[in-house]
Amino acid sequence: MNVEQTVLARRSATRLTGPGPDDRELAELVELAMTAPDHGRLSPWRLVVLRGDERRLLGEAMAEAAGGEPADRERTAAKPLRAPLLITVVLCPRDHPKVPRWEQLAATVCAVQTLILLLHERGWGSVWRTGALTDAPPVRGVLGLADTEQSLGWLYVGTPDARRPAAPRPPVDARSKLSSLLAPVGPGA
Ligand SMILES: Cc1cc2nc3c(=O)[nH]c(=O)nc-3n(C[C@H](O)[C@H](O)[C@H](O)COP(=O)(O)O)c2cc1C
Repeated sequence: MNVEQTVLARRSATRLTGPGPDDRELAELVELAMTAPDHGRLSPWRLVVLRGDERRLLGEAMAEAAGGEPADRERTAAKPLRAPLLITVVLCPRDHPKVPRWEQLAATVCAVQTLILLLHERGWGSVWRTGALTDAPPVRGVLGLADTEQSLGWLYVGTPDARRPAAPRPPVDARSKLSSLLAPVGPGA
């Protein structure tokens, strides 16, 4: 697969079953993802890997944060069970004279997207999931986040359900995203 094919074929896989990549393969892919652009090579992130009952602990923390009726809590608690492997993306920004926080966030997202593409190329499905509970205090607590750290959500990873392919992507207008200072760019150029 070349990069173009991988980029085109990757889709967020919302229906995931087991298996997922094991720890050895995950470490291999994360090492590859660390080739992503990263100003100052700060690697200002870490990944908290959740499998098995660790997902239940997260679910309980999410339910505690969400509150509500028992049935709502149960639904919330079950959310992390939607994939065999959850990778929590944690931004660990630090003060740096040349690399502000937003650049550290950008570097983190570059690494995450690279990981997503690598997972796809190996045949694993993934979806980045966030929401109101992503960085809620009970969730931060169970993940063991330091005060300076921020949860950016989870990559849900597993085996994609081949019977439920994603709907085709809507067409995009790349030209509307392009401008120039001297040469006209865009429709009719
Ligand atoms: C930062 C971020 C957060 C996301 N959060 C969610 C989410 O909470 N639930 C979800 O279903 N998809 C989530 N997504 C995935 C997007 O919905 C998905 O990428 C988009 O619909 C395009 O679909 P595609 O990835 O199949 O091309 C998130 C993506 C990003 C980059």
